[in-house]
Amino acid sequence: MSSIVLHADSPGAIPRAAAILHAGGLVVFPTETVYGLGANALDPTAVARIFAAKGRPTHNPIIVHVATVDAAKVLVADWPETAQRLADRFWPGPLTLVLPKRAHVPDLVTAGGPTIALRIPAHPVALALLQECKLPIAAPSANRSTELSPTCAEHVMRGLADRIDLLLDAGPTTGGLESTVVDLTTNPPRLLRPGLVTTVELQRIIGPLDRPTASAEPLRSPGLMERHYSPRTPLEVLVDSRPRVEELSCAGLHVGWMTHRNEPATAPSVLHLAMPVDYVSYSACLYAALHELDDAGLDRIVVESPPPDRLEWLAVLDRLTRAAR
Ligand code: TXA
Ligand code: MG
Repeated sequence: MSSIVLHADSPGAIPRAAAILHAGGLVVFPTETVYGLGANALDPTAVARIFAAKGRPTHNPIIVHVATVDAAKVLVADWPETAQRLADRFWPGPLTLVLPKRAHVPDLVTAGGPTIALRIPAHPVALALLQECKLPIAAPSANRSTELSPTCAEHVMRGLADRIDLLLDAGPTTGGLESTVVDLTTNPPRLLRPGLVTTVELQRIIGPLDRPTASAEPLRSPGLMERHYSPRTPLEVLVDSRPRVEELSCAGLHVGWMTHRNEPATAPSVLHLAMPVDYVSYSACLYAALHELDDAGLDRIVVESPPPDRLEWLAVLDRLTRAAR
């Protein structure tokens, strides 16, 4: 299959994408977090194509994107008050809610489980597509399984060219990290994946949250699988990164080094990237930085650890820790 890339603003792009979804095809579209690999969530054959294109294990369920709260309610067996409060505050936006599913939601979408993960994305192109096709869209991040999520069209094409029908290109995404995933079927609700909506923001709306331990129920949200979001180049995360960079480059290795601020230069073979100091800007460019270092043919990537005591850095730390495994 040869994939078509259309600028999302070009005439007829959205209706064409909607027609492909209705015909059981795969459309990559931008969200405010990362690009998603979308199919009609109610068509198991189309959803199966997502798993095949990504090489995704079928025990990993997929987030379903909808345009409105009413469209979300059609897919769930229960809409608790906590869901309403979180939707009022954070939708459209980078928050995914896990709720009991209705019987007509295909088992493949939910990996055979009794719950469905739902969100309304905040990107105008994603919303235009959802409104045009009037379908719920199942969409994981548009990358091969375990690899880095894509924040621009080039990242998508590197992993999925020839495996999709259409890509709607709207330039780089602004959020940069995947949505926060919260399970509302437990009491208290559980944070399954930290993301752009922070735990502090969530707790302000719904009170205490449970954090699962990695070993407790590993397949409950396979995004918690240890190796995930990984560049191909081996990566290390260290509080005191400079000595390690010097040690590796002395040993003749080509090293990529990500720090929070400008650092005096090391050996010329070190490719240094100074990242923003605030977590929002850092999140927005984290994957682009990792993609850049990963494409540079390096032997090792060394990342200066974010501040360990700051809750808002939880999502960044989570992705870096997985990338390092
Ligand atoms: O920002 C995002 O969430 C992006 C954009 C495209 O929306 N999507 C994304 O999808 O990151 P994916 O498949 O890469 O990650 C979805 C996460 C996985 O950790 C998956 O295990 C979890 O959500 N998940 C999906 N359905 C679930 C369910 N029913 N119960 C528990 N976890 C679920
Ligand atoms: Mg993903």
